[in-house]
Amino acid sequence: MLLPQLCVSLTMDVLLLGASGRIGQRIAAELLDRGHTVTGVSRSGDVDAIDDPAFVAVAGDATDPDDIAQLATGHDAVASALGPDEDTPPDVLVDMMDAVIDGMGRASVERLVWTGGAGGLHVGPETRLVDTEEFPEEWEPVARAAIDAYDRLAETQDLAWTYVAPAALIEPGERTGEYRTADGELVADEDGDSYISMEDFAVAFVDELESGDAVHTYLGTGY
Ligand SMILES: NC(=O)c1ccc[n+]([C@@H]2O[C@H](COP(=O)([O-])OP(=O)(O)OC[C@H]3O[C@@H](n4cnc5c(N)ncnc54)[C@H](OP(=O)(O)O)[C@@H]3O)[C@@H](O)[C@H]2O)c1
Repeated sequence: MLLPQLCVSLTMDVLLLGASGRIGQRIAAELLDRGHTVTGVSRSGDVDAIDDPAFVAVAGDATDPDDIAQLATGHDAVASALGPDEDTPPDVLVDMMDAVIDGMGRASVERLVWTGGAGGLHVGPETRLVDTEEFPEEWEPVARAAIDAYDRLAETQDLAWTYVAPAALIEPGERTGEYRTADGELVADEDGDSYISMEDFAVAFVDELESGDAVHTYLGTGY
């Protein structure tokens, strides 16, 4: 009698926001490889890179709480790899966060794992990455918008959220399955380089989605 219950808890129906994006596609692939079912949301509703019977691509606007409430209903968890496009002010990340929190509440879905930014991670006791001299000026607006979005999430007690941040540098690469995490801190190697491939970020992200080990945490990832 125990086996059917175990099977139910081992796989999830996941609503993945931003499934057509660079990181979103890799999170979708990782979820599908592990046997989860994925509804992938983007504004166009097209996710050409993924062809899997357990994946459905749908159109939706992540700044619209009604869309989120309707799309999230019936799912076990919401995952986000949302990002602003070049023509949209980065502050849209805050609108997205507000809409997701509101919509999930209405849909009675409690688990949220969000792809955030590394800028708010600490590199010293009082210093965040975004506040260092080395932080590229052109990335500052999106980094600060991502921190503002995190601040909204941090006020939210009725969701089991985790804000998972990439390393300072994240690029398409290899899936090694190896990575490290740190609570609120930038993860860097012994030479001080902070890097993770998008494939290994997806591994870290899905590991956290499955385990729930770092609920209510701003989790840094890297090698
Ligand atoms: N080191 C770092 O801290 C670091 C580095 C890279 C990325 N990131 C963060 O990671 C996240 C994802 O990055 P990425 O490079 O994968 O982004 P991306 O390739 O631009 O993908 C963004 C995704 O969001 C979707 N999207 C945008 N606006 C939407 C809306 N209103 N409604 C529904 N979907 C929407 C896009 O699809 P449509 O356009 O089709 O709607 C796309 O699927 C971003 O938040 C980014 O800031 C952090």
